[in-house]
Amino acid sequence: MLEITDAHVRFGGAHVLRGVSVTVERGRIHGLLGPNGSGKTTLLNAISGFVPCTGSITLDGEQLHGLPAHRRTNKGLGRTFQNPKAPDDMTVADLLRLGEHQLRTLPWHTVAFRPWKTAREQRLFAERCAQALTSVGLSPGLLDQELGTIASGDLKMIDIARALMSRPHLLALDEPTSGMNDEEIDILLARLKALRETGLTVLIVEHNVRVVTEICDQVTVLAAGGILAEGPPREVFRRTDVIDAYLGEADGDSPDPAGSTLEKTG
Ligand SMILES: Nc1ncnc2c1ncn2[C@@H]1O[C@H](COP(=O)(O)OP(=O)(O)OP(=O)(O)O)[C@@H](O)[C@H]1O
Ligand SMILES: [Mg+2]
Repeated sequence: MLEITDAHVRFGGAHVLRGVSVTVERGRIHGLLGPNGSGKTTLLNAISGFVPCTGSITLDGEQLHGLPAHRRTNKGLGRTFQNPKAPDDMTVADLLRLGEHQLRTLPWHTVAFRPWKTAREQRLFAERCAQALTSVGLSPGLLDQELGTIASGDLKMIDIARALMSRPHLLALDEPTSGMNDEEIDILLARLKALRETGLTVLIVEHNVRVVTEICDQVTVLAAGGILAEGPPREVFRRTDVIDAYLGEADGDSPDPAGSTLEKTG
């Protein structure tokens, strides 16, 4: 589904991604792990066209390299942000509209001379919003609420709903559970499993061991901009070099899979 080959990202003299190659299989949930500063967000930025990178990135066999971010969205790539930011007085509906604006724009003459088409489009938009919110476990009643009044866990869910509005084939999530309580994490896990059943492929940056072991089919661990380990989560968590990269010391024990979050060191 997604094939990243030999991706390099440099910021001036800093070589932040060093020849990363990752294959994400269709219909799977693929975890992207690694300590602080190892390059996880940079890799998502490179895939989605937010930072320049060298190498090849194909989605569904189509080359994304060199395309601007909005064209990558049109090709089926959706993403969320580690720290989503939007004006407090923006409504949930406004934010969701951003998620699909590049897919649907009525031409000016339709808006001016065929108002019934605009009204119909507004109705369909409300239906699409309701569907996106429901698919992340939120009530469509939130649509008119301002973002400044919404709890941080729900904001992360709404950011996922925003990304779903573009009907992605592959959804990239950057630490979706940060700021969520256990109950919200359980809802997110159930929703991601349901989305996988619909055929959606997910690439998820995540530190929570319980989340990774419960939903990821495969994981890739980054360290210092390169690939440290790949494989099924339980195998990868047993590796001392992975534990060492996170904890700074290898004691031979695998991390406690019952809900711990791996301590991150730089
Ligand atoms: N725009 C930028 N300009 C310069 N350096 C950057 C830029 N973006 C990221 N970096 C550097 O690249 C490295 C990787 O950062 P990145 O945000 O990808 O890490 P991460 O794995 O997502 O970490 P975290 O777990 O803290 O989110 C860091 O050293 C960071 O300081
Ligand atoms: Mg990050």
